[in-house]
Amino acid sequence: MNNSPIGFFDSGLGGLTCIPHLMKRLPGERVIYFGDTARTPYGSKAVSTIRFFSLEIADFLVHKGVKHIVIACNTVSATSLTELRSRYPNLTVTGIIEPAAEATANAAGEGSRIGVIGTKVTIRSGIYEKEIKARNSRVQVFSKACPAFVPLIEEGIINNEIMNLTIRYYLDEFVGNNKIDTLVLGCTHYPLIRSNLESLYPGLTIVDPSEIVIDTLERELREQNALACCPTLDNTFYASDLSENFLNMIDTIFEAEPVKVKFKNFDLEDVRMEGK
Ligand code: DGL
Repeated sequence: MNNSPIGFFDSGLGGLTCIPHLMKRLPGERVIYFGDTARTPYGSKAVSTIRFFSLEIADFLVHKGVKHIVIACNTVSATSLTELRSRYPNLTVTGIIEPAAEATANAAGEGSRIGVIGTKVTIRSGIYEKEIKARNSRVQVFSKACPAFVPLIEEGIINNEIMNLTIRYYLDEFVGNNKIDTLVLGCTHYPLIRSNLESLYPGLTIVDPSEIVIDTLERELREQNALACCPTLDNTFYASDLSENFLNMIDTIFEAEPVKVKFKNFDLEDVRMEGK
């Protein structure tokens, strides 16, 4: 039993899409979340920059006493998982890609045509394709970077024609020409446009890694006998830029959740200081 909080982080608000799943599945757990809203998006940045930012944030979470880290960001998982694991050998660091790739490969039927969408960095890494095909060689995997989705989502431009046109710009030919039957949301921001995708492409099976990673987290906490029984802390959500958009999105995401959340604006200088 371990009542310490679980650390989650993302480049911005995308990783928040994991939290309602956690709260439903493991209501006794508490979270410290960090969204790097001042430096988002990560998905078009250099790998060395993403690693530097990720280690800085993880240091901060470790300094806050987390018992486990979930990388609630595909871009960071694709680029920095090994570095994060070797920096904290006594802490479990869960990446979001491997659990999602495994679940996708296991659920896919013979000849399934799987589409993976994500940031430029995630798609360029080829990691989903590699991880899915290593587990199921009877499927085909197609990938597409959709770099305009994250800035629009961070701006709250979701339930309208601009988002739908952007989705169609990236995906109409991709889905149609490749006869995609399953679509993996390979960026934690994308569950926020899931209903747009479902109405534009009604036949697709959608895979949401933000939900799947919680299965893995639960198993790991059980194996380590580290589930919380009676936590005393509040959930705390930090952002490097506590913008109006971030707060509005939190309202949207937690609309149905009977939880109190506490927000803190965090200066990057403070993150560095506290991470020491
Ligand atoms: N949410 C992040 C992911 O899952 C990426 C967003 C970004 O480009 O910063 O990849």
